[in-house]
Amino acid sequence: MNKHIGILTAGGDSPGLNAAIRAIGKSALGSGKMQVIGFRDGFRGLMENRTLRLDRDVLSSILTLGGTILGTSRDKPHRMPVGGTVMDMTDVICDNYARHNLDALVCIGGGGTQKNAYRLSQRGLNILTLPKTIDNDVGMTDISFGFNTAMEIATEAIDRLHSTAHSHHRIIVVEMMGHNAGWLALGAGLAGGADVILIPEIPYDLVKIAQAIRQRQLRGTRFSIVAVAEGALSIDDFNIYAELKKKKNEVKENGNEKTKKKTFDALDQFSRARANHALRLSQQLEEMTGLESRITILGHLQRGGTPSATDRVLATRLGSACVKYIEEGVSGVMVAVRGDGTEAVPLDQVVGKRHVVPADHSLLESARRVGTCLGD
Ligand code: F6P
Repeated sequence: MNKHIGILTAGGDSPGLNAAIRAIGKSALGSGKMQVIGFRDGFRGLMENRTLRLDRDVLSSILTLGGTILGTSRDKPHRMPVGGTVMDMTDVICDNYARHNLDALVCIGGGGTQKNAYRLSQRGLNILTLPKTIDNDVGMTDISFGFNTAMEIATEAIDRLHSTAHSHHRIIVVEMMGHNAGWLALGAGLAGGADVILIPEIPYDLVKIAQAIRQRQLRGTRFSIVAVAEGALSIDDFNIYAELKKKKNEVKENGNEKTKKKTFDALDQFSRARANHALRLSQQLEEMTGLESRITILGHLQRGGTPSATDRVLATRLGSACVKYIEEGVSGVMVAVRGDGTEAVPLDQVVGKRHVVPADHSLLESARRVGTCLGD
């Protein structure tokens, strides 16, 4: 009997999503025992029953495409904006799963998607997930697809910024994505030979950064490249943020509406003020070193365009393995990368685990040994 497989892509898009959809689709159709349907725009399309039949014609020629042919959104099943209010639409989603006679639903996404998918699996749906994110911060997998492409793009940007920074004797602060994890800034920073790399895991001291830049000046090098993750924080901001987060958890448990609002507003304000942090950092370094400084924010450029060969291979490995697990009747798992192979990790072990750069990671040691300032 034919199995019916659903696929959706959720959260921020990531290079390799189409390669993964293709791998799941082609492996499933190739088995001769499965039909595949895609849901548009993440969990919202599943809720609204907006579908795309994934037949061979649709799956052909998408391997190299950026983005996702299914579309994506950050909507959550249990907190879905509908007609001006936010509603729990989990029941509707479960009904649509049943309406399509699905035997398995594959949710491709980052940390948030893993959580949402886990909730659906707790409601009895057969869920499998794949880890994708340019931030590489999904827990319990060696790596996520999308990261390699983003690192390549960010590295090329640093390479190009080098020659202009050198010619004008400037500091260039280049901001990369990564709110919680610094893999991208660390990887691209090392590959591009950034002089300073700032990541969320290591609170930075401005004085130390300025000193490192001045030392380069003293050696006759009057330019510096500062690679900074969007989530990197100065020591002061780090402490303020830690305090705000602690308070948020306290009031979430036992605060009244007034204290809740006050705490959430303070967090909001903090985040908004941080939106300009690359500019602030650049201005501060300009003042402290006397060198002219410019900023470049790579933003969504890092997520766009064709996936690297590495990400295409990774997405194909994960997507095809996912179908093997479906054939074996496995569900409630994330198909993770483990060494050269894959592993089905139960979703309850994935949720809430963030893959951040550990303080003793070898790449941090390598960076320090080659003289890169990490801001500490
Ligand atoms: O989820 C990955 C990510 O690319 C983060 O690095 C970044 O902070 C965020 O998405 C940006 O989200 P959006 O596309 O919604 O602006």
